[in-house]
Amino acid sequence: PIEKRIEDLLAKMTLEEKVGQLNFVVGDLFNTGPTVRTAPSDKFNEGIRQGKITGIFNIHGAAYIGKLQKLAVKESRLGIPLLIGADIIHGFKTIFPIPLGEAASWDLAAIENGARVAALESTAGGINLTFAPMVDISRDSRWGRTAEGAGEDPYLGSLIAAARVKGFQGKDLADPRTMAACVKHFVAYGAAEAGRDYNTTDMSEHLLREVYLPPFKAALEAGSATLMSAFNELNGVPATGNMFTMQQILRKEWGFKGAVISDWQNITEMVNHGYSKDHAQAAAQALKAGTDVDMMGEAYLNFVPQLVKSGQLEQSILDESVRRVLWLKFKLGLFDKPYQYSDTRREKNEIRSRENLAAAFDMARKSMVLLKNQGNLLPLTANVKRIAVIGPLGNNKADMNGTWSFFGEEQHAVSFLEGIRKYAKGAEVTYAQGCDLYSNSTALFTEAVAAAQKADVVIMALGESAVMNGEGASRADIGLPGNQLDLVKEIHKTGKPMVALVSSGRALELTWLDQNVPAILATWSLGSEAGNAVASVLYGEYNPAGKLPLSFPRAVGQLPLYYNYKSTGRMYEGNHSEPGSERVYKSRYRDVPNTPLYPFGYGLSYTTFSYGAPRLSKNSISGNESLTVTVEVTNTGKLTGEEVVQLYLRDLVGSTTRPVQQLKKFQKLSFAPGEKKTVTFTLTTDDLSFWRQDMTFGPEPGQFKVMVGGNSRDVQELPFTLTSI
Ligand code: IFM
Repeated sequence: PIEKRIEDLLAKMTLEEKVGQLNFVVGDLFNTGPTVRTAPSDKFNEGIRQGKITGIFNIHGAAYIGKLQKLAVKESRLGIPLLIGADIIHGFKTIFPIPLGEAASWDLAAIENGARVAALESTAGGINLTFAPMVDISRDSRWGRTAEGAGEDPYLGSLIAAARVKGFQGKDLADPRTMAACVKHFVAYGAAEAGRDYNTTDMSEHLLREVYLPPFKAALEAGSATLMSAFNELNGVPATGNMFTMQQILRKEWGFKGAVISDWQNITEMVNHGYSKDHAQAAAQALKAGTDVDMMGEAYLNFVPQLVKSGQLEQSILDESVRRVLWLKFKLGLFDKPYQYSDTRREKNEIRSRENLAAAFDMARKSMVLLKNQGNLLPLTANVKRIAVIGPLGNNKADMNGTWSFFGEEQHAVSFLEGIRKYAKGAEVTYAQGCDLYSNSTALFTEAVAAAQKADVVIMALGESAVMNGEGASRADIGLPGNQLDLVKEIHKTGKPMVALVSSGRALELTWLDQNVPAILATWSLGSEAGNAVASVLYGEYNPAGKLPLSFPRAVGQLPLYYNYKSTGRMYEGNHSEPGSERVYKSRYRDVPNTPLYPFGYGLSYTTFSYGAPRLSKNSISGNESLTVTVEVTNTGKLTGEEVVQLYLRDLVGSTTRPVQQLKKFQKLSFAPGEKKTVTFTLTTDDLSFWRQDMTFGPEPGQFKVMVGGNSRDVQELPFTLTSI
């Protein structure tokens, strides 16, 4: 058994060799510029031979990794193989949409498949551990890492977290086509104050348990082999040394037995937080909290041997961390088949295969959200003979892949222009850049206006570049960058019908566009097949069905903004500009409504759906009884389309106050024109449960409201009662 093999090995290890198993180092990626290392670098050889390195991350190349592995296995004293990690966030060489985009599909099978393809390709490239999924809830789109998560909702986020873990890990970690997942960043990293990356977080235990923890729990229940500790401090204690979250919750309550990996230098950064007086103390605090692996800090390497020798750190704590790392290496099959991820034949044949590109195309189409389509401007028809594609993202390959896609070669990405030209058979397609992504120069405006004037339809390609979101890419203003909006206004003056393709890794503030542009399509960063997927939607080959996984604000000042907010003592539901004194001392803004521009769960289709009145199987339940909610949904339009039927719940009175709405169920269904389906959801008392005032989890008797609709705003509601538990 693995346990016995681990103990045998542990008994042979010196103190230094044990500490070496906790030291994770980056490859040359960030040190030598944009070229990812695929040729052997001597830099690590000595450290590997001496057993000072447990693994290397952000490298790839089956042959290169095979050589490194051979060094570890043949030339280090105990022959312990290496972990090879990487940020495989939304694909390896075949790039899928950024995770936020994938989340907009609400399609768990497709999301799982995306992770499976990423694992297939990256394991063929030598990698056995991915630093994904990122499951941080984001309620504030100023935070750049919103792009990497599944949006603002803990329920949707939990299902997606589990789907991704299953996709990466498959059924057996020892299978060379699967890899270990590392759910990150534990915890509350997405609640960084003011949306500024790495910033402080401070929140109640209730909020932590109800909103920020569930996706982690779901990922671990789905089997995530590892977990990454976050950069932020939480309630005064850095996450990586936080005994409450790391020991009490993660290890004791959830019983997690896998390895915890620090984020990049976040152990030594505990000194910057003002929590540790030096790197030695930081090392002791992090290891005691259960952060097993030190990523790039070298605090363990430099200080743990001495801490153990001097009795400041118990040997048993070190041993436990080493066990967890060895367990992972055994589970990955590395001890028995150390070269199984170094298969150059697979690397040659299984990367960027036709099948993988087809899956990326499918996912990209599913990720787009149609935000507006006045007068059914879309889909485009054969009557549109002259199209002008205008904007900095129109003829752009570099930004299609999006954040965290450094293994994907941008020259392979299909630009919007290429895709549109392919689909616009018989139509003339011209292109004008109009402006660049960030600057305020108007030098290219005239040419763009001239192109628009000659067109029947203008397609504006707007939004963020790949580096405007992701890590370290918070924004204080989340409108269109640079002078893109000025460009749109100039083109708008031509009076030409306009479609706006808006790419972003967050919710953007699109108020002017919403008021003035007839058709708006949210295109996130769609990956390798971006242009083909967009053109397929523009031409109606595919009917868009994405729904927003986060609320789009009317103004940046509304942030944080989320649909599952709590009522206040003075809620104001009316129009902010209404006269009358009754609105003055209310929870509202003077200048914009409280509501989002586009709500959570929102997204249009080229067809239309109507919802019948929902029905309940009974008006009250008790104990372990369940309740069914039924609604008839009809495709009232002329095209086949998919709809995400959503069910929300409100618990009217609680021992701790309850959100006005919580997503509890959804079904994504396809409807032929005119087709009617009866959609049934079953609710149990589990769905009514929450963290009560006494910190126990369960339901409380009382009145509830169930809400059903095609987004969080447009719902029909029904009351029911939980009489007893
Ligand atoms: O995995 C990432 C993490 O999300 C942010 N810091 C760096 C890590 C490794 O690249």
